[in-house]
Amino acid sequence: MERTFVAIKPDGVKRGLVGEILTRFEKRGYKIAALKVLNVTEEIAQKHYEEHIGKPFYPGLIEYITSGPVVAMVIKGENVIEEVRRIMGATDPNKAAIGTIRADYAQVMQRNVIHGSDSKASAEREIAIYFDESEICE
Ligand code: RTP
Ligand code: MG
Repeated sequence: MERTFVAIKPDGVKRGLVGEILTRFEKRGYKIAALKVLNVTEEIAQKHYEEHIGKPFYPGLIEYITSGPVVAMVIKGENVIEEVRRIMGATDPNKAAIGTIRADYAQVMQRNVIHGSDSKASAEREIAIYFDESEICE
């Protein structure tokens, strides 16, 4: 079964949105295969967002993702990578479809509540940054 990496970003955790977001995935029938709360270090943040190094928003992005605890998870399901991206909505909450997480809970791109892997390769790369295989349930 396909798996993806999801992180509820510091703003989502601070605002108490963890339960609401997990509920959406669980109701869809996806399985939570791994879950933890952690403070993202500069080192983890750099690895996670290495594709964005050098872009104007990069320093702000690193500051944001390291600003407080994050809830990281691996979730499994049919076509879960693409479907989680649809459930999250567009990067810019103002362009996200109504009913998506970013449209329902965020106002600006710099505080858009959630991360989800954008491809199979990203999913495997990101899972390996945040989890040891022994922490992931079948
Ligand atoms: P994510 O990786 O966090 O799931 O978001 P995404 O795929 O929808 O968007 P991506 O292009 O990968 O950008 C990563 C995060 O960087 C911030 N960002 N700010 N122009 C900007 O100010 C800008 N562009 C991107 C957002 O927090 C975005 O989620
Ligand atoms: Mg991305």
